[in-house]
Amino acid sequence: MKLNEIIKNRVSVKKYLNEKIDTSMILELLDDAVYAPNHKMREPWRFILIDQERKNVLKQAWINQSGTIEPQVEKKFDNVFSAPMVITFVMKLNQNYNDEIEDLQAVAALIQNFMLLAYERGLGTAWKTPGFIELDGFKEALGIQTDEIIADLVMVGKPEKFPEPKPRIPAKDKVSIY
Ligand SMILES: Cc1cc2nc3c(=O)[nH]c(=O)nc-3n(C[C@H](O)[C@H](O)[C@H](O)COP(=O)(O)O)c2cc1C
Repeated sequence: MKLNEIIKNRVSVKKYLNEKIDTSMILELLDDAVYAPNHKMREPWRFILIDQERKNVLKQAWINQSGTIEPQVEKKFDNVFSAPMVITFVMKLNQNYNDEIEDLQAVAALIQNFMLLAYERGLGTAWKTPGFIELDGFKEALGIQTDEIIADLVMVGKPEKFPEPKPRIPAKDKVSIY
């Protein structure tokens, strides 16, 4: 598939087959994805892979930290962690606000790289930023340091099916020639 076809056909996948995803393949894809542009080569990211076997360990660690999880938050967690694998994209906080915005953009570029590479291999993905990624109990359960944030989660797995891509407004409708 050509790159423009990969870009246009990648879609957010909600439902996944219950098939384990090979960690070595994910590492391979991430190893390519880290060639994303990032200012001053800060490479402000690290990754935590959570598969179906470990998701209940994570949930229990979170309950141990917080005492309880609100039912609607637990529902959200179960929904995101219904994927065979969830990748947590952890970003190092930056003392400088502008640098931090650059770093968030670099992480986003890396995630898009990853999702396109995954799609090329027949994997589905979905980018997620649920509110619970900011909760102390969840962050502590995952081992997030005080100088880090969870930037994003990405669900990964073999899709039940790839949905149709959502149409976009053509760029020419948003272009003015200066
Ligand atoms: C920074 C960012 C955060 C997102 N967070 C969520 C989210 O929390 N929940 C969700 O369902 N989709 C989330 N998405 C996915 C978008 O909703 C999705 O990409 C968009 O609807 C376009 O659909 P497509 O990915 O199928 O092209 C997020 C996307 C981005 C770029």
